[in-house]
Amino acid sequence: MENTAVYPGFFDPITNGHVDIIRRGLKIFDKIIVAVLKNPKKNALFSTKERVAMIKETFADDPRIEVKAFDGLLVDFAKKNRAKTVMRGLRAVSDFEYEFQMALMNRKLNPEIETLFMMPSVDYSFLSSRLVKEVFALGGCVRDLVPKAVEKRLREKLTSGKRFFPTNV
Ligand code: PNS
Repeated sequence: MENTAVYPGFFDPITNGHVDIIRRGLKIFDKIIVAVLKNPKKNALFSTKERVAMIKETFADDPRIEVKAFDGLLVDFAKKNRAKTVMRGLRAVSDFEYEFQMALMNRKLNPEIETLFMMPSVDYSFLSSRLVKEVFALGGCVRDLVPKAVEKRLREKLTSGKRFFPTNV
């Protein structure tokens, strides 16, 4: 039986920190389903479709990665997809409280599903989707911080005149 994990998030957009966690997860799991939360926030920069497409493009050469959009409870999505583990990245102590709360709530909702925390490379421990958008919108270079598919779409958003700073960061 395949050992599958779910890696959930909003991914607006996916960063190299997320990519790093997914690649680390592949050392443990046969398959990882990247679960993209459907747009709950009105001011997301990218649509659900765009966020899914960027992740698919980033992992196009790896059949062990599946990308799916979801809404509703994460534990229900995990069960439906036969995954017993939820993978989350922990960058710093500041992430801990939020992650701890979510992990315990998910355990309460479904005790069969475990949450596994992984640390990204220190190169990405400062990185967030919010900061990537802010830096890019203000003219900073994000080449080493996001996959190529994301850099391309950030540029397209900027040239299309979409306002993504300061309202959408
Ligand atoms: O990238 P994010 O914003 O840190 O991801 C948060 C996410 C998607 C993991 C979380 O909001 C989530 O699981 N949402 C689904 C709804 C749910 O199951 N809520 C109860 C879990 S505490």
